[in-house]
Amino acid sequence: MELRNTPVDVIEFLGHQVYVKRDDLLDVAFSGNKARKFYHFLQQDLSQVDILVGHGSAQANSLYSLSALAKIKQCQLYYYVDHLPQYLIDNPQGNYRAALELGANIMVTEPSEITVIEYIQQYVLPALTTQGQVAVFIPEGGRCQYAETGLKILADEIMAWAESNSYADIRVVLPAGTGTTALFLQKHLPFEVQTCACVGGDGYLKQQFSELCADESLHPTIMTADKKYHFGKLYLAFYHIWAQLKQTTNIEFDLLYDPLAWLCLQREFSIANENSAVGLESSDNRPILYIHQGGLQGNETMLPRYLRKLAFVK
Ligand SMILES: Cc1ncc(COP(=O)(O)O)c(C=O)c1O
Repeated sequence: MELRNTPVDVIEFLGHQVYVKRDDLLDVAFSGNKARKFYHFLQQDLSQVDILVGHGSAQANSLYSLSALAKIKQCQLYYYVDHLPQYLIDNPQGNYRAALELGANIMVTEPSEITVIEYIQQYVLPALTTQGQVAVFIPEGGRCQYAETGLKILADEIMAWAESNSYADIRVVLPAGTGTTALFLQKHLPFEVQTCACVGGDGYLKQQFSELCADESLHPTIMTADKKYHFGKLYLAFYHIWAQLKQTTNIEFDLLYDPLAWLCLQREFSIANENSAVGLESSDNRPILYIHQGGLQGNETMLPRYLRKLAFVK
């Protein structure tokens, strides 16, 4: 499976040119940053492995990608969640539905004092070993050192692209959740990587960076949003910028992460436009390369939520 060398499109946003690295086009089931983060496992010989063990939310993009990985590798996927809404069980949709279709076993951990990871480490993995099953545990969302292999390849593609366009310096922009993608890109790129904290705020993101890499000089720059947005909540500003981009560029972005990064760019471009209207030169003319990290399966559930909210607001 050749999962690399995605195209770069150029779009215009508020009169500014932005290049978009189309990692959403890597593969239908195995796309975006998950394909990059799980590349290590994809390349590995897992023929002796019976079960991949993962955990996270029942609607996570990584659930879908892990299911695709398990299918490609002809293993089972045991995926643990700490809760599963009855509504979702009755009406499977989005990543959850797609994962079930790929054969994922999605299980709810027993309610207890311990976390899902502890449950997996204390009960699931030892039980599988006792049963003679070979299992590989993959941390939530691919937040681990393994992710570096595939992200280094992405960094190499970015450098080759910049060189072929004779750009000596560029800015790489992408939204962050765990920060894994942004961090490993920054580690392997000579360009500045700029990101924004979609989950848990700037402090949480810095902490995530430090857990993966102690050297702060290798951390990406955090773009600060105009206000605090809570992950997974609906914001009309998110929907409007998403719809505007879809309409004007024909590119569909994800509705959970991408809108915040585009709002940060929107703020920056608006200021630059105001400055240029009064004759002030922009101080930063580096070309921008935006990394599209996929996640479109999740829009299947986010979009109806937004449409319900919009109908309510009208
Ligand atoms: C579509 C999309 N964008 C951005 C992110 C954030 O990636 P990371 O957790 O590596 O910061 C994710 C989650 O992995 C995602 O699914």
